[in-house]
Amino acid sequence: MLLQGKKIILTGGSRGIGKSCVEYLASQGAKVAFTHTGTGNSAAVESFEVELRSKGCDVKAFAVNLSEVASFKEKISQMTDYLGGLDGLVNNAGVTSDNLILRMKEEEFDKTLDVNLKGAYFFTKECMRSLMRSESSASVVFMSSVVGVMGNSGQSAYAASKAGLVGLAKSLAKELASRQLRVNVIAPGFIQTEMTGVLDESVKKSYMDNIPLGRFGEAVEVAQAVTFLLSDMSRYITGQVLNINGGLYI
Ligand SMILES: NC(=O)c1ccc[n+]([C@@H]2O[C@H](COP(=O)([O-])OP(=O)(O)OC[C@H]3O[C@@H](n4cnc5c(N)ncnc54)[C@H](OP(=O)(O)O)[C@@H]3O)[C@@H](O)[C@H]2O)c1
Repeated sequence: MLLQGKKIILTGGSRGIGKSCVEYLASQGAKVAFTHTGTGNSAAVESFEVELRSKGCDVKAFAVNLSEVASFKEKISQMTDYLGGLDGLVNNAGVTSDNLILRMKEEEFDKTLDVNLKGAYFFTKECMRSLMRSESSASVVFMSSVVGVMGNSGQSAYAASKAGLVGLAKSLAKELASRQLRVNVIAPGFIQTEMTGVLDESVKKSYMDNIPLGRFGEAVEVAQAVTFLLSDMSRYITGQVLNINGGLYI
């Protein structure tokens, strides 16, 4: 198992890519503390926890709103107490608010940047001391997007937040390498989740027409890459962006 004994925090583990990551990381032997907003489908989160525990996995959900930086200290301390340390962090939670720039409202822009970039920044900052104490090769993964590396009409705020994560990760990779702490980015293309489920059929078709592998991605395909970047198999990889997009952006 690739993550045997590793203690991992993952944000946004209640749905989509994050949920698949929680399942996959736990199946690889990790102990996982994952977050959800606490304002979504809490019953579904609870039954997800129960299901995984019945399979022998060590996972626990915590309610955290990434817009509430002041709450991070207490929440992260609860999570690291549960885990008994920290070896890896996956900043996965994210939101989209798509609009043309002429129609974009300041509050929509702020919400996207607050959760996707500011939230990830300060959540990572609060985890840092525990990660530095890790006795294994500690690793941080940021979930960016193909849109953050290639841009997309109508998604300028989202793209800005996701491009910001790339600059953040590359800077942290340089800042933290002397502590043997690695920082990488995953940039998924079109992955089938609730976030992409709401898109117009015409938008989906235009994506599909540009994906050389001829299909949308599955959440587990991202989870497998996250596992690799958290594992000791990637111990000489830092500051990189791993594109998982079926060739949509090459
Ligand atoms: N799906 C794709 O094709 C795709 C492509 C590229 C990048 N991504 C990125 O991959 C990540 C996961 O995407 P997804 O499609 O799995 O999204 P999703 O299905 O919409 O799930 C979003 C997750 O983030 C959590 N979340 C939302 N707002 C939050 C907040 N304010 N504070 C804390 N947590 C919050 C949600 O918790 P609740 O359940 O409690 O709401 C949920 O767990 C995102 O960062 C997204 O930008 C996705």
